[in-house]
Amino acid sequence: MQNILTSVHSVLAYVVLIVLILAFLNAISGWLSKREKFEMSKDLRISLFALILSHIQLLLGLIVYFISSNGLNAITSIGIGNLNSAARLLALEHPTTNIIAIVFITIGWSKHKRKETTEAKFKTISLYYGLGLLLILSRIPWSQWLG
Ligand code: HEM
Repeated sequence: MQNILTSVHSVLAYVVLIVLILAFLNAISGWLSKREKFEMSKDLRISLFALILSHIQLLLGLIVYFISSNGLNAITSIGIGNLNSAARLLALEHPTTNIIAIVFITIGWSKHKRKETTEAKFKTISLYYGLGLLLILSRIPWSQWLG
């Protein structure tokens, strides 16, 4: 079970990152090129898709955190102060940073809905999704994932 869920978390990471990057690029291009309309069929859909996928990844990550030997178990068995940097990344930095990142993405989504102008909508999505994306990229266990 641990292997299956970790593999799903690992594969879904590609999809989440690609869709988040697309949503961010779409918002920033809409903002900077002063597009006139925030369209339901494209702009809303890609931002919502990125939100939903990151929430699914959050839930999956939480489950993985509690069952994987690299998650909470690493902290309880080795002790938080004795984790080396790779273990600390998996058990501590990656989970906490990603939770904060997804909070930013969620705030961005809710705030953009309350904005009146198209420019403000694109700007809000750009800033909050961009910040979330940066946080996520800063704490991916790259060598374990792609190595
Ligand atoms: C958008 C958010 C996230 C992305 C893109 C992401 C991505 C990844 C990636 C690429 C790996 C490495 C998988 C591999 O070695 O093949 C990983 C591992 C892991 N993730 Fe996430 N993750 C996210 C959110 C979370 C959250 C919110 C938590 C926990 C609260 C979490 C917990 C873990 C744990 C514990 C591992 C280590 C699993 C193991 O090696 O057994 N992740 N994640």
